[in-house]
Amino acid sequence: MLLLSLETSCDETSAAVIRDGVVLSNPVSTQIRLHEEYGGVVPELATREHLRNLPVVVRTALRQAGVEACQLEALAATRGPGLPNALMTGLKFAQSMAFVLGRPFFGIHHHEAHLYSPWIQGTPPQAHFSEFQPNVSLIVSGGHTLLVSVNALLDHEVIGSTIDDAAGECFDKIAKLIGLPYPGGPQLDRLARLGRKDAYAFPRPMLKDPGLDLSFSGLKTAVRYFVEKHPECVAEGSARNDLCASVQAAIVDVLLAKLARAVEKEGVRCVTASGGVTCNSALREGLQRLCAREGYELRLAEPSLCTDNAAMIGILAERKLIAGVAPSGLDEEPMPSWALPGA
Ligand code: KG4
Ligand code: ZN
Repeated sequence: MLLLSLETSCDETSAAVIRDGVVLSNPVSTQIRLHEEYGGVVPELATREHLRNLPVVVRTALRQAGVEACQLEALAATRGPGLPNALMTGLKFAQSMAFVLGRPFFGIHHHEAHLYSPWIQGTPPQAHFSEFQPNVSLIVSGGHTLLVSVNALLDHEVIGSTIDDAAGECFDKIAKLIGLPYPGGPQLDRLARLGRKDAYAFPRPMLKDPGLDLSFSGLKTAVRYFVEKHPECVAEGSARNDLCASVQAAIVDVLLAKLARAVEKEGVRCVTASGGVTCNSALREGLQRLCAREGYELRLAEPSLCTDNAAMIGILAERKLIAGVAPSGLDEEPMPSWALPGA
């Protein structure tokens, strides 16, 4: 099966060519430089940039894979959640190709694609679904924070979710408060490595709550008050590094505690994690420590597949095709907000 997939849900334009579970190409064109001066993604600019980038990225993906468009057997694109007009660009581009080539098209849920991305490993990256086992999955991105119980391939249920901000959003907003450039998550991570995580005590929201839901907006507010009271901590130096390390520790502690509770509750022996925040060094180390201590198998999405990419979209679409899931309509619209089953 030869498939082309597109991802345009936010500020990355990506296209991937997948053949029988192997990622032949997966170019990603990031718009970080474009949005940097505004301190966040400007939806209108993102849409225009996707429109400009799509033909280039698709041509690159096909060339790198050594494939002609007419050889493609199926098309896929992210349908949502994401920025409505940004989603529209990739969705309509892929649907148009499917229409012209007379091939099936699959509209894919962005979080569902993240969910199965930890099973894509190796060089070249390829799906290792034969190694699948029931797991609890942590999806931590800029748009959402979810705990998902995955019983079998394509059979999953959301068991916990943030009730306000996503973990990535919390990283980004706090980084902005501290004066770090967009996107703040990786910058905060970098400075946190130089600081002491026990320097300042920040709240661990909903840690005592016995459920599996999470919350990050209270932490953001606590940091805002702290910075107002201690403006010296925002200046470059050890105090700022300590602040970053302490904030990061609060976010990671909450994620790990809720995840540990979820795994115990579900009685599984495998943990997976995906989404942009899974690039975070403290989270990766914390997950490794937790799983080593409890004897769980850990599957972390590879850093290049944690952030948005079309490979995860294509691998999931191919899986759906193999499983006999009916293709989507060519008139399918984007779904800016679209809950995973069980949410
Ligand atoms: O999955 P993703 O690329 O896009 C969404 O689906 O939202 O995730 C992007 C998020 C951003 O909030 C970004 O700051 C965060 O992932 N992120 C990180 C790190 N790398 C990316 N957050 C903390 N530490 C990192 N190293
Ligand atoms: Zn994402």
